[in-house]
Amino acid sequence: MRILSGIQPSGALHLGNYFGMMRPAIELQEKGEAFYFIADYHSMTSLFDANERRKNTLDVALDFLACGLDPKKSVFFKQSDVPEVTELSWLLSTVTPMGLLERAHSYKDKVAKGISPSHGLFAYPVLMAADILIYDSNVVPVGRDQKQHVEMTRDIAIKFNEQYGQTFLIPEPQIRDEVAVVPGTDGQKMSKSYGNTIEIFGDEKAIRKKIMGIRMDSRTPPEPKLDAEKNLAVQLFKLLDKTEGDKQEFLLKAGGYGYG
Ligand code: ADP
Ligand code: TRP
Repeated sequence: MRILSGIQPSGALHLGNYFGMMRPAIELQEKGEAFYFIADYHSMTSLFDANERRKNTLDVALDFLACGLDPKKSVFFKQSDVPEVTELSWLLSTVTPMGLLERAHSYKDKVAKGISPSHGLFAYPVLMAADILIYDSNVVPVGRDQKQHVEMTRDIAIKFNEQYGQTFLIPEPQIRDEVAVVPGTDGQKMSKSYGNTIEIFGDEKAIRKKIMGIRMDSRTPPEPKLDAEKNLAVQLFKLLDKTEGDKQEFLLKAGGYGYG
């Protein structure tokens, strides 16, 4: 089994990246041939400072290695190290229907937010299809926000195979339900672009401030049972330490126990 995934060097990595993609990817390196890369070309659709991209690329590499990616067990590289990927991206674009790209949620969301779109942003899923298909990948571990992109890759591969004969394997996304969408400090999906992240290796003081800023229920005991399931801090706590998080949730729901 060949496993492949990528991550953009567009900013400091956060708990959403860790639980949604990095940890599953690190676990999968024991189960097959793993290929993981830093998507520097993709980051050019949203980050326009080359020095920042170079710095982020090194930071992402460090974070991934520190979290357990083992270069003896997986191939770890930069997207731009393999120029054939951009060559394949062109070939694939000739069989990619415009309508397929126009339906991409991530593209539509960015346009709705007022970003003036480049052709690169529109063609983003075609480059991603090239990343996946060029290595004959079977499994692509990602968070839920990338599901549609992997489905588009499948559509593009099927179209190419119909047109030119059997060429590409059809990959499967692998999404873990329990961490498919890790919430950020404001309750939306945690994302570098929403300013609601908790960094994996952030400064302790800064992280403490962000966590203390999460909206809680300020009623103090002996108030009735608190709605711990909906509380972001409890949800994040449970991801990091399930046993202790479950205990906190139990106490909050039982009543007589506050967030303080
Ligand atoms: P961001 O939205 O912060 O820019 P990326 O798009 O670089 O993150 O995502 C890299 C990987 O991490 C992808 O596989 C993505 O699905 C996953 N991921 C990002 N944010 C989350 C989240 N909040 N929950 C689960 N997975 C996530
Ligand atoms: N689009 C992915 C993201 O933002 C990054 C990525 C690029 C990727 N190419 C890929 C992920 C190929 C998996 C497979 O997170």
